[in-house]
Amino acid sequence: MDRNSIVRAALAVSAMAAIASAQTSLKDAFQGAFRVGAALNPGQFEERDARGAAIVKTQFNTISPENVLKWESVHPRADSFNFAPADHYVEFGERNHMFIIGHTLVWHNQTPRWVFQDENAAPLGRDALLQRMHDHIRTVVGRYKGRISGWDVVNEALNDDGTLRQSQWLKIIGDDYIAQAFRFAHEADPAAELYYNDYSLENPAKRKGAIELIRKLKAEGVSITAVGSQEHDSLRGPSAEEVDAAISELAATGVKVNITELDIDVLPRASRQAGADVSLKVDAQAKLNPYAAGLPEDVQQALAKRYAELFGVFWKHRGTVTRVTFWGVTDGNSWLNNWPVAGRTSYPLLFDRKGEKKPAFDAVVAVAQK
Ligand code: G3I
Repeated sequence: MDRNSIVRAALAVSAMAAIASAQTSLKDAFQGAFRVGAALNPGQFEERDARGAAIVKTQFNTISPENVLKWESVHPRADSFNFAPADHYVEFGERNHMFIIGHTLVWHNQTPRWVFQDENAAPLGRDALLQRMHDHIRTVVGRYKGRISGWDVVNEALNDDGTLRQSQWLKIIGDDYIAQAFRFAHEADPAAELYYNDYSLENPAKRKGAIELIRKLKAEGVSITAVGSQEHDSLRGPSAEEVDAAISELAATGVKVNITELDIDVLPRASRQAGADVSLKVDAQAKLNPYAAGLPEDVQQALAKRYAELFGVFWKHRGTVTRVTFWGVTDGNSWLNNWPVAGRTSYPLLFDRKGEKKPAFDAVVAVAQK
């Protein structure tokens, strides 16, 4: 075969792959391997964003709520719950036969100050805070019993060095607050899957802390189904080898591994700090927002390659990895347009701002078609 024929043959193969993936949804491509999902905002699950809702229905079989089940959203004041948005989220999932995730019960962020204070704004004691945590979990998990199938019970309890974060939960209750939260969730819905969820678990020190935590919970007889590895990744890292090792080591504790908040940042690094600490803020500068007018083709292809490499790892661990959830639906909705720099134009997902599939979509589907 001459060079031109080889190029023509390669183009034909890639065109066939693109046609095959154009006809295949993510959920169908990975059927039998793991569920594929996305985090939704109210516009999507209330179907005001018709295009976004259509993508979700076509492509995904599991959903997570980006914000509406966080404490400050669902339980803004001591004596009142705000269930309407969360009800709409769950109803959307039920109408579309989705595996519905609850995110998140106990976190140091997005939790109102009153939670940790008495009526005189004095710090609460251990018993009172445990009682408050119990009431919250019983009410929220209980409301959606049998409807929400899996809960992020505790979110981001670890520091980067693997020690427990000095949150108000830890300071007031002590380090058994995590086990207590899992017990309360299990009591409220014994059939629900329960997860510990965190980011940067490819970092060996943090992973070691997570593994110790999971082993301790299991030794105490606490019901934990899976560890959620968020995967807020970038073009630079973590490497496929690091993700592979992290999944193997986490799974060796005897729990499943879920990829819970996947996205791949293509923008320049705005801070030395990696991860997903929502409190990080960096001032806007033009050089930190280089693709405001569009994503160059080479970066688009680099993103596709990076997605393929990560899905290659998830595919290898299918069965151990039981769910892969993207943190958003289209690039326009991603939290990465506003973190850690406000107002950037970010491109971390498989669907562009018009809702069109990106080359990364074909690259991901192709992993399951090899
Ligand atoms: O709802 C208010 C709105 O009333 C107000 O006008 C507006 C002005 O800023 O803010 C709105 O709240 C924002 C909320 O998202 C809903 O859009 C908050 O400011 C903003 O901080 C919040 O960001 C969310 C962040 O968690 C903090 O809760 C992101 O959307 C969400 O993607 C992100 O998700 C987290 C996961 O829960 C845990 N892991 C990391 C991940 C990414 O940070």
